[in-house]
Order: sequence, then C-alpha cells, then structure tokens
Amino acid sequence: HWTMEEFVGTEISRIRALVGEKGQVIGAVSGGVDSTVAAKLMHEAIGDRFHAVLVDNGLLRHNEAETVHQTLTSHLGINLTVIDASERFLTELKGVSDPEKKRKIIGKNFIEVFQETAHKIAKEAAGTPNAGDIEWLLQGTLYPDVIESIAFRGPSQTIKTHHNVGGLPAAMHLKLIEPLRELFKDEVRILGTKLGIPEELVWRHPFPGPGLAIRTLGEVTRSQVEITRQADRIFIEEIIAAGLYRKISQAYAALLPIQVVGVMGDKRVHEQPICLRAVETTDFMTANWFDFDRPFLDKVSSRITNEVSGVCSVFQNITSKPPGTIEME
Ligand code: XMP
Repeated sequence: HWTMEEFVGTEISRIRALVGEKGQVIGAVSGGVDSTVAAKLMHEAIGDRFHAVLVDNGLLRHNEAETVHQTLTSHLGINLTVIDASERFLTELKGVSDPEKKRKIIGKNFIEVFQETAHKIAKEAAGTPNAGDIEWLLQGTLYPDVIESIAFRGPSQTIKTHHNVGGLPAAMHLKLIEPLRELFKDEVRILGTKLGIPEELVWRHPFPGPGLAIRTLGEVTRSQVEITRQADRIFIEEIIAAGLYRKISQAYAALLPIQVVGVMGDKRVHEQPICLRAVETTDFMTANWFDFDRPFLDKVSSRITNEVSGVCSVFQNITSKPPGTIEME
C-alpha cells in the first residue's frame, strides 16, 4: 500500500538516480494525460534537462498544438519544442485511403521527425555547460499497456496497429524511462491533479496517434481534414456546453468519403456527410454508443450543416463495440 505523495517522492528520487547529475532525457508529448503527467514528473525531477517534443502532424484537432504549447510551457514550465511537420505528413499521405497504410505512414514519419528533432536538441544541449548527451527516452506507458504488449505479442494478434510509435526506442538507441508503468489510468489522473495539471487536460478523452487521418475516411487532404476538424470542434463544444464531456468516454466527428444529395436554397447539392460517434466505456475493449437527446442532436446537426461548408448531412454511428470499434477506420 502506498500513497500518491510517496509515489511522487520515490519516483523523483528514482529518476534522479537513474539519469544522474548531467543526464538529458527526451520525450514526445501529445497533450494527452499520460504523456503530460510523465513530462511533468520528469520536469519536477530534472528541470530543463528534460526536453519535450510535440510533433504537429497536421492531423491534430482545432487549435490543439497552440493549446498544448500554452499549457505545457506557460502553465507547467516544461521545456517544450513544437515541430510543425504538417506539410510533410500530408504530402506522404497523398493518394492513400487504406487505414492501415495511413497508420504505417504516420508512424514512420513520426519516428523520423522525432529523431531529427532529437538530434537538433542534442546538438544545442551539447553547447551548454553541465550537459551530457541525451541518453534517455521518456514514455508514458501505463500498466495496462505493459500487460497488453505481453498478451498481444505474437503474430496476427493485433486487430489494428495501435502502438504506432512502438519502433521509437529501438530506432533511437536510447534507454527507456517509464515512470507510469505501474499505474492505472485513474491513478494517473489523481497523480496529474496532484502535480497541478489543469482539470480539462486530466479528463481529456483519448485521441489516437494518427489523429484526424483515421477520422477523415478515405483519402486525406488538407481541405478534407479541415472539414473533419471544424465539425469535430462544434460537436465537442456542444458536448462540453451540455455538461456531457465527463459522462462520455470518447467522442468525435468523422467525415465520410461519399456524397449525398441536399438542398441549399433552391439548388440541389451533392456534399459529404459527417458522422458523429460517442461512446461510454471503462476499458475501451468494449463500449456502448452514447444516447443523446433530440434537442442536443438537433443543435449539433444544424450547427454543422450551417457552419461547415461542404457538409449537407449529419449521421450518428449507433453501433456498440463489438461488433463496431471506437474508431471507424
Ligand atoms: P478501437 O477503434 O480499436 O479503439 O475500438 C480503441 C482505442 O484505441 C484508440 N485507437 C488508436 N490509438 N493509434 C492510437 O494511438 C491508433 O492507430 C488507434 N486506433 C484506435 C481509439 O481512439 C480508442 O481510444
């Protein structure tokens, strides 16, 4: 039996002993609770010798890179570098519609961009006194991830290639540091609150690594992603306004790669539909679709069709998992 205060103290001492007086650590952050808590813990332990990197792959949600930057630097004091690599990712994704191919391309480019950034940071750090080489890679691995990676080892077991940054440690020849590897999600949230991480961030819905690319069904282009992004922003805004955010485990808007007919004024138009998805779950292995009331859906539907150009219909995915999955690709 241990308390969270003891955990913080013990973990900080362990990190300091492991990394030493001059050791440098690098880690990717996403703005999600796990990577933010891990980064904050690292910052408490070794200050600016921890280097956080946010890769903006052009597939993030509305204002996400800016918000994460603001919270991590101004609010939490973390030494963060934001890399805008959106052009590179969108170019690499050109002409690709297959979801698994999208995941592979995004995973591969993420590793490359992260590595390039790590080299740059290492060079800069080498010029400052009292700085050693970057030898450590921070990962926000939780206990369930540890279990899953053991249970899922072996051929053809993974339904989707979720752990799209799994190749990172091997590719970089860095030693892994995983301060959350004994914790469950609810414990990470308690720890995050203790470390002064804002409530909104502590309770943020999970967001997949491939981001809006797997919510923009079919081919991913800058303009298609922008439609997904605007519809998603409206849906999430309304969920927050209705006080439903914490009741729902994950929610998003997806853009479907089909055309449906609609009327705009006195003209027939052929435009794409948006599909709303919201689920309740405790473990993300199974999930129930979330039932909104009619006034809520009415509001979301009319806002999306009025405010997002290129969209004339709104659908809702009412499939639980199984047989559905939480993402639609
Ligand atoms: P599914 O769609 O398999 O999703 O029911 C379960 C959870 O995993 C997330 N997910 C992903 N996360 N990369 C990620 O980092 C991925 O490729 C990916 N695909 C699904 C999904 O958002 C949900 O939380």
